[in-house]
Amino acid sequence: MTTTVVHCSDIHFGRGFLPECAEAFVATVKTLAPDAVVIAGDLTLRARRHQFHAARRWLERLERPLLVIPGNHDVPLYNLALRLLAPFRNYRMAIGVSTTQTLELPDAAVFGINSVTPFRHQQGRISDADMQQSMEWLDRVTAPWKVVVTHQHFYDLPGHRRPGAFPNASVLLEKWASRGVHAVLHGHTHYPSLMDARRLFPGLPRPLLLIGSGTLSNRRVRGPGMRTNSFQCLVFGSEMLSVTCHRWHAPTACWVADTTETFDRAFFASGV
Ligand SMILES: [Fe+2]
Ligand SMILES: [Fe+2]
Repeated sequence: MTTTVVHCSDIHFGRGFLPECAEAFVATVKTLAPDAVVIAGDLTLRARRHQFHAARRWLERLERPLLVIPGNHDVPLYNLALRLLAPFRNYRMAIGVSTTQTLELPDAAVFGINSVTPFRHQQGRISDADMQQSMEWLDRVTAPWKVVVTHQHFYDLPGHRRPGAFPNASVLLEKWASRGVHAVLHGHTHYPSLMDARRLFPGLPRPLLLIGSGTLSNRRVRGPGMRTNSFQCLVFGSEMLSVTCHRWHAPTACWVADTTETFDRAFFASGV
């Protein structure tokens, strides 16, 4: 038995949205038939009501269990009153819960955190209360694989700095690693990435994968190598976790499975 989770991000309904990518994604999700779809924020470009309603209609068509968190583009940028007084009002009206949420799947427990603060346009922030809640929940769940989801990222690739990385990344990751988290999923960078966090933060008590999803359907693809739209697909098995990056193939207007990396459970135990 395995548990499959599709992880995508930065859909960005609004200017620069690529409908062909989002449309083909609905069909690809039907084919992959994952146990759940995780969406790591930035559903819209400008947090407008009509953008959220379009996002809502698209989410419903995925017809899978969903875990959706907001991104920094899901709070108003220019309407300062709304931004400061009710930043998640439009999000909540169309999408639902904007705070922490969880997903318990047969082989994986997933904790999603709202890492957006209306006081900063880009920079990620995890409140003490949300961190505490995540740690207590992670202590309670018994699933063999544990996953956390945020919008912002934890490090910048050399030459590809994206504003917004958590300033206290090592502190956050140390807390989750100590709770047995195997992977942290994020978006925001608009390029796919996969790295053992110990390469960046050698003090972590055990291996922890940082898995970034690129932008699913926004024109602004970034990062090193092939600049294409992308998403990630995770398969949790009894002995291993595999992560496949799917890339947009414009000539055929199809999503295509690209690279797969596999990690066995011994890898995650190696630091304990
Ligand atoms: Fe984005
Ligand atoms: Fe973002």
